[in-house]
Amino acid sequence: MQIIRAGEDLASALGALRSGGHKLALVPTMGALHAGHMALVAEAKRRAGRVAATIFVNPKQFGKGEDLDRYPRQEAADAGMLEAAGCDLLWLPGLGDIYPDGFATSVTVAGLSERWEGEARPGHFDGVATVVARLLLSVRPDMALFGEKDFQQLAMIRRMAADLGLGVEIVPVATIRDADGLALSSRNAYLSPDERKRAAALPEALREAGNRIAAGDDVAAALDQAKRQLGDAGFSKIDYVALVDADTLEPLDRPRTPMRLIAAATIGGTRLIDNMAVESDLSR
Ligand code: PAJ
Repeated sequence: MQIIRAGEDLASALGALRSGGHKLALVPTMGALHAGHMALVAEAKRRAGRVAATIFVNPKQFGKGEDLDRYPRQEAADAGMLEAAGCDLLWLPGLGDIYPDGFATSVTVAGLSERWEGEARPGHFDGVATVVARLLLSVRPDMALFGEKDFQQLAMIRRMAADLGLGVEIVPVATIRDADGLALSSRNAYLSPDERKRAAALPEALREAGNRIAAGDDVAAALDQAKRQLGDAGFSKIDYVALVDADTLEPLDRPRTPMRLIAAATIGGTRLIDNMAVESDLSR
């Protein structure tokens, strides 16, 4: 696996990678890699002859008081995991490679990025859209892979790629979970052992609400029960638990395919997000 730091070295490395007419897949990350990230790399390997990954902890997507300074950094371990997974190129851009002096452009995806995470974390999605656009335009892959774990992010990036004609296929990858159902996340490292145990209530509440909605129960009642379960498990702040249209992320008060349950809540000092598909015949 070739490791590139300076942006100037990227073009020639990409040229070499593509020689022979290989398709190139990109996996953008912020590092602190786990089995969730590696599922993206594995899917990229299945779909493309060459795989590139990026690690860049993007300051623009962190709000004031968020965890930019303490976001876990473990570059050597990350590089080892990527190499073992058969990744061909790792780009570790510096701040100036992504945001050269005078950088003044921001990408906003209206609507989709305004609710849920957008409301709880003002400016977050502009930071994500801007860095992802920059990464995609720097690497120009045939496809880029994103996790369903960050469901609203995935929907927004899809919209952006279509709107801007970026010419890249956006490939979704299902969420990888621990044995108790908790979605893997770099931020799970912040949880104390006790919080970690109680955090499993998040996927559990979503799963139960999904089953109730699929069985024809009232949506509002199912969502209320999920919120109560989170409170009982010790989540202190529940930002949202909602049933939404899976493409537009608009809230639904009754089932309509394709739909998704999404949630964000804080346990201890750690804010967790999760989401699940709901399959229901009732909506047809
Ligand atoms: P990061 O949180 O490092 O995640 C990188 C990619 O891994 C994202 O597409 C995310 O959805 C996916 N991912 C994380 N946990 C996962 C899990 N448990 N199962 C499957 N996929 C998972 O998301 C970001 O970084 C950034 O916002 C980024 C897109 C890199 C832009 O800075």
